[in-house]
Amino acid sequence: MERVKTGVPGLDEIMKGGVPKNQLVLVTGTSGTGKTILCNQFVFNGVKKFNENAVYLSFEEPIDFIKQNAKVFGWDFDVIEKSGKFQFIKYDPYRIEDVFDVLESTIRDVKASRVVVDSISALALYVRDEAELRKMIYNLSIILRRLNCTSIIVSEIVHGTEPRLSRYGVEEFVADSVIVLYYERIESAFTRAIQIWKLRGSTHSEKLHPYEITSKGIVVHPAQEAYIRSGLGRRER
Ligand SMILES: Nc1ncnc2c1ncn2[C@@H]1O[C@H](COP(=O)(O)OP(=O)(O)OP(=O)(O)O)[C@@H](O)[C@H]1O
Ligand SMILES: [Mg+2]
Repeated sequence: MERVKTGVPGLDEIMKGGVPKNQLVLVTGTSGTGKTILCNQFVFNGVKKFNENAVYLSFEEPIDFIKQNAKVFGWDFDVIEKSGKFQFIKYDPYRIEDVFDVLESTIRDVKASRVVVDSISALALYVRDEAELRKMIYNLSIILRRLNCTSIIVSEIVHGTEPRLSRYGVEEFVADSVIVLYYERIESAFTRAIQIWKLRGSTHSEKLHPYEITSKGIVVHPAQEAYIRSGLGRRER
């Protein structure tokens, strides 16, 4: 199976070489775990290191905000945008029904092979009807597959509810692979842990690994194991 390297130190190792090419990955976890940072790193590395053009659709923070945060890690999105190899999509909340058409045409224009949609939970702010939203998530997965992109969609694990992998329970089914990020208190300190929940067509590390958010972005420690209390139990097969 052909792989696409995320370029996130340690993550490609625990995925046995990277994300399967042209597949759809769900990155999920509670708020503040570093999902957006991980996605920024995936697209920035794609353009700078792996010669893969990229598109980033954000329903969350304003784009200037994302760019400003990314600079802290040394990722200058203005530069790669000017080069024509990358584009953020500024969506119009009043024309949410068109958003995936805009995504599709931007992917074609940029000739992107890496795509991020961040996040499904924020998309829900604009689409109230849950049945409609589920249909949109499914349609999104169809579009991304049709365009042969290696893509990440972001969802969230909501605190204080029955633990489940994603906000709407559809995201993990449309995705080929699932990466879960945890941030949890162990005694007096917080621990960050990452887990490959599923990886279609491949083996992967079955362990929880510690990760850090450093000045260069996310770094996973493949040789170490993390211990947290509330990691989601292994799926029944
Ligand atoms: N420069 C930095 N150095 C180290 N850690 C940082 C830095 N900037 C942010 N962080 C950490 O990253 C976290 C935010 O990461 P990010 O925005 O990617 O989370 P997220 O999972 O996307 O959150 P949300 O669900 O709210 O969108 C912060 O809570 C902080 O702990
Ligand atoms: Mg985020």
